[in-house]
Amino acid sequence: MPRAILYALLACLASGGLLAQSPVDEMTAADLEAGHKTFAIHCARCHGMQGGGGEGANLARPRLKYASDDQALYDLVENGIPGTAMPGVWVLTEEQRWQVVAYVRSLGERERAVMPGDPERGRAIYEERAGCPACHIVTGRGRGIGPELTQVGDRRGIGYLRESLLEPSASQPSTEGYADFLTVRVRRGDQVVEGMRVNEDAFSIQIRDIGGSLHSIRKDELASLEKVYSHSLMPPLGGALSASEVDDLVSYLMSLRSEP
Ligand code: HEC
Ligand code: HEC
Repeated sequence: MPRAILYALLACLASGGLLAQSPVDEMTAADLEAGHKTFAIHCARCHGMQGGGGEGANLARPRLKYASDDQALYDLVENGIPGTAMPGVWVLTEEQRWQVVAYVRSLGERERAVMPGDPERGRAIYEERAGCPACHIVTGRGRGIGPELTQVGDRRGIGYLRESLLEPSASQPSTEGYADFLTVRVRRGDQVVEGMRVNEDAFSIQIRDIGGSLHSIRKDELASLEKVYSHSLMPPLGGALSASEVDDLVSYLMSLRSEP
């Protein structure tokens, strides 16, 4: 039977509830490889090469918010998510679309298998030992000097999170979409203020420094204004935690999701 017809048949039976099977179950290793290629061309620029997130969501999750099953994921790839930056990718054939669906699902499976540490131990490290709530909010608790982490597991993958802890400068996004969390250093007379740019217009700039104080500075008083792309306010963990404690912390962050 030609594959296109097989997929259509399976999709139809599955959506009618007659068959608890989806075309994804029929996919071979070669299909996954083809799905990976399609992903690299059409999806990776927003979702990252490994699907770990960037401008688009982290897709390496066992459950996706907008795609409860394979058919929903297929429809999402075809039509996008209206009202968001997620575009419909209609240039794909039906077969290519199922292959990319299978590839995205495989990312979620892999992630489940390799969750590196213990999220409960990670929570204790986060809350009690590592000083993270001084700069981050999780479900309403903490201070918002850095980005809110309440659903960080939706946006980011394991590799990205580990890097943000160990080498914050390397992972600090320098693209426009993240300009929210730009580190700036300004000089006014002999005073130097360094911090997160909270707001900026033609006449003034507001900066929150690492102690949490807000500085509002008129631009005509400035001796210099530097955007420090390669420098992060996020302190690197360095040797403060053992490798397995870092794994626990990463697992805790991965567990901060909209869906369990
Ligand atoms: C132009 C950037 C862009 C491209 C290209 C793109 N996406 Fe997205 N995608 C997004 C954004 C942004 C979101 C998050 C939408 C939101 O929640 O506001 C998203 C969301 C998703 C979601 C939903 C995640 C969830 O939590 O349920 C899936 C699945 C997805 N994209 C898959 C894909 C696939 C597969 C491709 C390639 C065929 C692709 N995307 C191409 C930007 C993109
Ligand atoms: C002194 C303030 C400060 C402390 C303490 C701090 N962070 Fe951050 N963090 C930031 C800032 C600011 C950013 C934004 C990007 C940057 O500057 O690198 C950030 C970024 C991050 C990101 C990347 C988020 C994203 O979506 O890209 C993660 C994850 C993170 N921090 C986790 C932690 C954890 C876990 C701890 C505790 C071990 C911690 N942070 C402690 C300030 C801090």
